[in-house]
Amino acid sequence: MRNMSSSIHQLAAVLILSVVAVPVSAKPLDPGSIKLPKMTPELNLGKMNYDALCASCHGKNTAGTDKGPTFLHKVYHPGHHGDGAFMIAPVRGARAHHWQFGNMPPVKDITEGQVRKIIPYIRAIQKENGLF
Ligand code: HEC
Repeated sequence: MRNMSSSIHQLAAVLILSVVAVPVSAKPLDPGSIKLPKMTPELNLGKMNYDALCASCHGKNTAGTDKGPTFLHKVYHPGHHGDGAFMIAPVRGARAHHWQFGNMPPVKDITEGQVRKIIPYIRAIQKENGLF
């Protein structure tokens, strides 16, 4: 009996982890409810580029829209989608695999320099809102 109940616990743990790892929806948040980090000139450059190139899908203040996920979902925690993933997605695009928004197309004419400015801006918002 003892063994059986411990394997049931293990099974439950596995099931819970699978649910956490494969979320199916990322509802857009209210951009006004998102805490903003203290801005620096460097973060302002990131924001300018983010607003021009990412916000149409990922939303103002990374809140998400009906075209793309919010970055305040734990799926985009730096431990799960590290800066490497953030470097690659804008250049190559991303196949829909977490959600039902469809594929992310490559962002036209984006430069590595722009992405390098955008990432700290997204991380600063994530941090300010307690994602990590
Ligand atoms: C035309 C809409 C659109 C634009 C513009 C866009 N994205 Fe995306 N992005 C998406 C969608 C949709 C997904 C989710 C794909 C999925 O289902 O996992 C996504 C996913 C991502 C991911 C996760 C990729 C992965 O490996 O899972 C990153 C990182 C990302 N976007 C960064 C950016 C950045 C940075 C910009 C601006 C430079 C940007 N996106 C612009 C639609 C967009």
